[in-house]
Amino acid sequence: VNLIVNASSGRPIPETLFGIFFEEINHAGAGGIWAELVSNRGFEAGGQNTPSNIAPWLHSECMCSVTVREIISAQLVELEYTIPGFWGMNIEQGKTYKVVIYVRSPGSINVSVSLTSSDGSPILATANIVDSDVSNWTKKEVLLEAKGTNHKSRLQLTTSRKGVIWFDQVSAMPLDTYKGHGFQKELIEMLEDIKPQFIRFPGGCFVEGEWLRNAFRWKESIGPWEERPGHFGDVWMYWTDDGLGYFEFLQLSEDLGARPIWVFNNGISHRDEVDTTTVSPFVQEAIDGLEFARGASDSKWGSVRAAMGHPEPFDLKYVAVGNEDCRKKNYRGNYLEFYDAIKHAYPDIKIISNCDGSSHSLDHPADYYDFHIYTSASHLFSMTHQFDHTSRSGPKAFVSEYAVTGKDAGTGSLLAALAEAGFLIGLEKNSDIVEMASYAPLFVNANDRRWNPDAIVFNSSMHYGTPSYWVQKFFRESSGATLLDAKLQTNSSSLVASAITWTSSVDGETYLKIKIVNFGNRQVSLKVSVDGLGLNSLLSGSTKTVLTSSNVMDENSFTDPNKVAPDLSLLENADRDMNIILSPYSLTSLDLL
Ligand code: AHR
Repeated sequence: VNLIVNASSGRPIPETLFGIFFEEINHAGAGGIWAELVSNRGFEAGGQNTPSNIAPWLHSECMCSVTVREIISAQLVELEYTIPGFWGMNIEQGKTYKVVIYVRSPGSINVSVSLTSSDGSPILATANIVDSDVSNWTKKEVLLEAKGTNHKSRLQLTTSRKGVIWFDQVSAMPLDTYKGHGFQKELIEMLEDIKPQFIRFPGGCFVEGEWLRNAFRWKESIGPWEERPGHFGDVWMYWTDDGLGYFEFLQLSEDLGARPIWVFNNGISHRDEVDTTTVSPFVQEAIDGLEFARGASDSKWGSVRAAMGHPEPFDLKYVAVGNEDCRKKNYRGNYLEFYDAIKHAYPDIKIISNCDGSSHSLDHPADYYDFHIYTSASHLFSMTHQFDHTSRSGPKAFVSEYAVTGKDAGTGSLLAALAEAGFLIGLEKNSDIVEMASYAPLFVNANDRRWNPDAIVFNSSMHYGTPSYWVQKFFRESSGATLLDAKLQTNSSSLVASAITWTSSVDGETYLKIKIVNFGNRQVSLKVSVDGLGLNSLLSGSTKTVLTSSNVMDENSFTDPNKVAPDLSLLENADRDMNIILSPYSLTSLDLL
């Protein structure tokens, strides 16, 4: 089999090509990337239409009562409240945690605040809150430095003073978060590593809701965290306190150097929708959201952003009008209302339609059309040619959700990942029409798997990338690179390959990267020829990276997190002509200087 790469000419790949899609699903945000350790910190998890509940808070035997909605009231003799957090809090020795509690009592208070192991002992850190006058709600803050480590720790509030104490908004967070902005460092570093060019957020179905009343609405997710009402996400069936809100998503995008792509509700949920004649409040909400992100710091909504600590506008240039709503009765009508209003107020904003324009032209104006695909491995691999014959006029494609699902994927197999790699090579080659692509879903908290597979799996203290995550890493240099002509001479339909040159921002050098997917069960001997590139003094630092495993259904796990992970070695025979052995079921990258 021959692969002939012609490096004398190429075509630029869009800067935006590969990014990420973050959805609040699988406790990806609450109990995930957002570093808040307390679940249901305001006792509001019952939502507005059902009685509030205090789960997962636990209390000791005492004369205590729990009032509806927000507060614990305790007729105290001896009270101990234990907060297990999201399936246990990860407390690590030497790290400092900030605990904030709102408290009110007719008398004086003496409450000890402790981080303990899951059965209450040993105590990892403790401090007392003492006050003689908390007759009005008072915010108390303590810093706890952990003297030990426990991955299933709990926060405990204890008092033996007789009387009544009310608590509300109890928060515990590590002091050390990603860039100090409240995100779990280790998880966000996994994202940093794949250099996402954009972040589409916050959903997905999360944006739509089963019912409109439970959809994510940005205005409820900004301002002081204590004042955010939170909401019950009725598609993925859990409460979010919305500490991770619209502002935080914009901040995360900025911190990762990724373009924010905001998906907002367009008056349509899974089960109800507003008529186009009455959609204007939703349109205004979107316009206000744009002002919040981009407006001057003295504008109505820009000033709210500034008060949250970000006077400069965020670089928001892309919005998606809804998610997967194209077939809904009012989609077109509603969409056009949003389109006209946004283009009028912010002509530079690129608008993404939910309707697929890859097989026929759209009947409405758009800058991008959204394309989602969840399918079998063989089908996705064959979709390497999906965009080969798509019309080159009209809006560009945004493949904002793709993955292999079902039995081929399990909870993240090599087979699924290789099919995705084949598909992505097709997107690179068609990046004159496909300008953006993101895998979905991104994260899963292993304690609440709502969707399989996902790119990154975590629990309170551990995390790993699935093979699909590692595939993303093979494509991180592609955005903004130059696509070269790479021709495979073979009868096999199990092989696909692409070649790019890209310039490193670290050393300013230009590298050649060749990627080949062998989706077949046989080893392949490949002769690679590179024409027309002024390669350096015989390629001494060149490398080969391979993603494969002994069984194509192999997956990673907490016990074996790197079972399927890229294997990097020096490419000893790097040259303009070289022979490469491709393992059965593998993704290989040749990186030449
Ligand atoms: O990625 C999981 C879900 O799949 C998304 O919420 C939705 O857009 C799609 O149906």
